[in-house]
Amino acid sequence: MTLNKREPILKVDGLCKYFSISSKETLKAVDNVSFEIYKQEVVGIVGESGCGKSTLGRCLLRLYEPTKGSIYYENTNLKDVKTRSQKKEFCKNVQMIFQNPYASLNPRMTVKEIVGEGMKLYQRYSPKDLDDKVIELLGKVGMNKDHMSRFSHEFSGGQKQRIGIARALSVGPKLIVCDEPISALDVSIQAQVINMLKKLREEMGLTYLFIAHDLSVVKYISDRVIVMYLGMIVEIGETEELYEHPAHPYTQAMLSAIPIADPNRSRNQKGIPIIGEVPSPVNPPETCRFAERCPKAQEIC
Ligand SMILES: Nc1ncnc2c1ncn2[C@@H]1O[C@H](COP(=O)(O)OP(=O)(O)OP(=O)(O)O)[C@@H](O)[C@H]1O
Ligand SMILES: [Mg+2]
Repeated sequence: MTLNKREPILKVDGLCKYFSISSKETLKAVDNVSFEIYKQEVVGIVGESGCGKSTLGRCLLRLYEPTKGSIYYENTNLKDVKTRSQKKEFCKNVQMIFQNPYASLNPRMTVKEIVGEGMKLYQRYSPKDLDDKVIELLGKVGMNKDHMSRFSHEFSGGQKQRIGIARALSVGPKLIVCDEPISALDVSIQAQVINMLKKLREEMGLTYLFIAHDLSVVKYISDRVIVMYLGMIVEIGETEELYEHPAHPYTQAMLSAIPIADPNRSRNQKGIPIIGEVPSPVNPPETCRFAERCPKAQEIC
């Protein structure tokens, strides 16, 4: 089915993922989260460590079973994806790029095996065609055929992540959940990898859910941004609008903490302080979760 640009490729409705950590304690990692992602859009998710970004990403990939709520991929409820062939089709369409390229690649497999493994599941290739396909994909991520017979430990962090990206692309996905894809990389190569992801999206018409804690990176790549706090969404907006006119005090505080490279501007920059530490997501309050740290909190919160 071809999708119209404003037709959602993914719809998340009231999604909750709770972890029961003792008989009395429930950790609400993701709590009543709803949003949509449209075809060929890049939606960024930002929020402090532990706010539930990866848990949300894992629910979308069916790596976690949600506690409550629904996820629809191209209008199909993931609860109805049951048979082997339905699951296979879903895995082909939705892929993930992981934060840690050191841990996400099998050290016993060559680059050709890592990148070719998924392709073999979906199509019968002759050995020559498979080689050609792997070489083509490696070319897309800035590597070449000399790398095919080498093992992942022989590569730098940046190259490992390129291999991880080639693996995700190998099955021809439409939606890719990128969970902090550049956080583990050296600063000098972060820009190369982010620019490559941007270019691949344009060339291949991909849709990304791009998780990061770095607001500048999210601003650079995203069309819309979701701000999460302690398992909940506090704000969703078009990137420019959200960065220029943040509505929620938490978004305002996060944005005011971004360092500005201009010494004159940074001296005038007014920070909105956030008080205290991130509270625990175990048995969180029913009130606004940000209230106890919010500079604008009132009785009604
Ligand atoms: N399998 C699990 N069992 C119990 N608690 C979990 C599990 N996975 C995640 N959590 C908890 O859920 C909360 C959200 O974790 P999550 O990894 O989704 O956060 P995050 O926003 O991705 O953080 P970071 O930016 O550090 O990657 C945390 O409090 C974490 O301890
Ligand atoms: Mg995470």
